[in-house]
Amino acid sequence: MIRTLWYKNALIYCLSVDSFMDANGDGVGDFDGLARRLDYLHGLGVRALWLMPFQPSPRKDHGYDITDYYSVDPRYGTLGDFVEFTHGCKERGMRVLMDLVINHTSDQHPWFQASRSDPESPYRDWYIWSETKPKDAHKGMVFPGFQDATWDYDDEAKAWYFHRFFKFQPDLNYANPDVRAEIFRIIGFWIELGVSGFRMDAVPFIIAEDSPRAGEPELKYQMLRDFRAFAQWRNGECVMLAEANVPPKESLEYFGRDADRLHMMFNFPANRTHFYAHASGDASALKKALKDTRNRPETGQWCHFLRNHDELDLSNLTEEQMEATFAAFAPDPEMRLFDRGIRRRLAPMLRGDRRRVELANSVLMSLPGTPVIRYGDEIGMGDDLALPERESVRTAMQWDNAPNGGFTLNESSACPVIADGPYGYRHINVAEQRRDPDSLLNWTERLIRLRRETPEIGYGDFDIVRSPKDILALRYEWRGASVLIVHNFSDRPREITFGLDATGGTKRKLVDLLDGDHDDGDEAGRHTIVIEPYGYRWYRIGEMNDALERREA
Ligand code: NOJ
Repeated sequence: MIRTLWYKNALIYCLSVDSFMDANGDGVGDFDGLARRLDYLHGLGVRALWLMPFQPSPRKDHGYDITDYYSVDPRYGTLGDFVEFTHGCKERGMRVLMDLVINHTSDQHPWFQASRSDPESPYRDWYIWSETKPKDAHKGMVFPGFQDATWDYDDEAKAWYFHRFFKFQPDLNYANPDVRAEIFRIIGFWIELGVSGFRMDAVPFIIAEDSPRAGEPELKYQMLRDFRAFAQWRNGECVMLAEANVPPKESLEYFGRDADRLHMMFNFPANRTHFYAHASGDASALKKALKDTRNRPETGQWCHFLRNHDELDLSNLTEEQMEATFAAFAPDPEMRLFDRGIRRRLAPMLRGDRRRVELANSVLMSLPGTPVIRYGDEIGMGDDLALPERESVRTAMQWDNAPNGGFTLNESSACPVIADGPYGYRHINVAEQRRDPDSLLNWTERLIRLRRETPEIGYGDFDIVRSPKDILALRYEWRGASVLIVHNFSDRPREITFGLDATGGTKRKLVDLLDGDHDDGDEAGRHTIVIEPYGYRWYRIGEMNDALERREA
């Protein structure tokens, strides 16, 4: 594989414009504010941004309820501001991915308004209607406890409509070719404005077989192929990243066995087992998840993450694993959500223990795929459990110790800011951490650089090196170069011995990429290392001056 697929070695940073930086002082984050922070992001090593929805919306589900696909919510700026922002990214070599929320619209969208008010409207068939109440109206809810049906009666239409998510998010009908044609226009529009990719929301539901959307069986996958092909015709570097929390064996259907569907997928199986490893000290389930998701087309890529804007979803862990993870990270019921998840940020879950926060991030950067980090995790931001539902993890970015954490100059911020306690902005903020060479921020920057200088991870093949259950040792090979990365999930120091002679029997050195030290190994090519509690080691296998990847001639 030649090194041309930018998404294989990029660091993706996700953020929501409304909570990042307010430039005009109205208390709401905006594109102008974000544009002023691009040098910060570039300095951190970010090479792609994933923006949560920013189009006009009543924001009853944090923007995942859109009323106009062709505009910017006026609270965040104008289309002009958006283009200034994408231009600023381009100048710095950073790509922009945006959320493509097309499973559903807001019920306030003019398409739905037309659909519900006039049975003769061409928009009637853009949504999914039933004259009678479907038998499964109370099945298949995504937000149990907050949603009691997937079909609701609409007084105006005098019919039932389908909504996989909240009642105010009616599902679009993909069996209708006009709906599909509209999605092409939306994709094409944002590409013209500088976007290089889309994080496609709720993909399994868009193509679900049990959805009431009628359609030929192949339609669903054909649609994914068509979206990808269209996006790439318009812009060759454009990628589609799927939010599809599906069992590993289904993932190839999303990538496409011929690599013709979606380029990237979030690796949910690795995410939940990674947290279980932190909860239990046992990395076996994580190793299994990595093996189960090993298979992907050469141009396909997994995206790994720690936390995102949703709950940490533990579904599909065994009952025992789930209980252990809840017990460790969400002992209090108010920390849990939808019976399956945890609504907390990374740092407080790990009790602010710097060693464990570093371990989690080091694992993230070393997993086979592309790392995605969430705004604020680079400084160890906390959560606010007094806020409802998933809002607990969506508080304003903490820039400095000025009122509202420097997020806005307005006295009252529209976005909640964490002011009190150990995670308050007076203690946790960018300005302070910039000054301290040992801060989490500066450590994260160094780690990101290390990840970028280790393209074997994004491009190469990996092996899980046999080791005890509390150790995760991954070895990557690419173009003749190889790295070994070792993590200790236990609270005890561990001594481990590895044999490296598998690569041709020659005696090889382990060059420590973090401290420059090296280990010669014994005559048989075995290396014995001692790794401290929650410790991590990044090694390049080779000679002393092999600290950086060497290209083949
Ligand atoms: C997945 C998004 O990540 C989540 O935040 C949203 O509520 C649902 N999709 C519905 O769009």
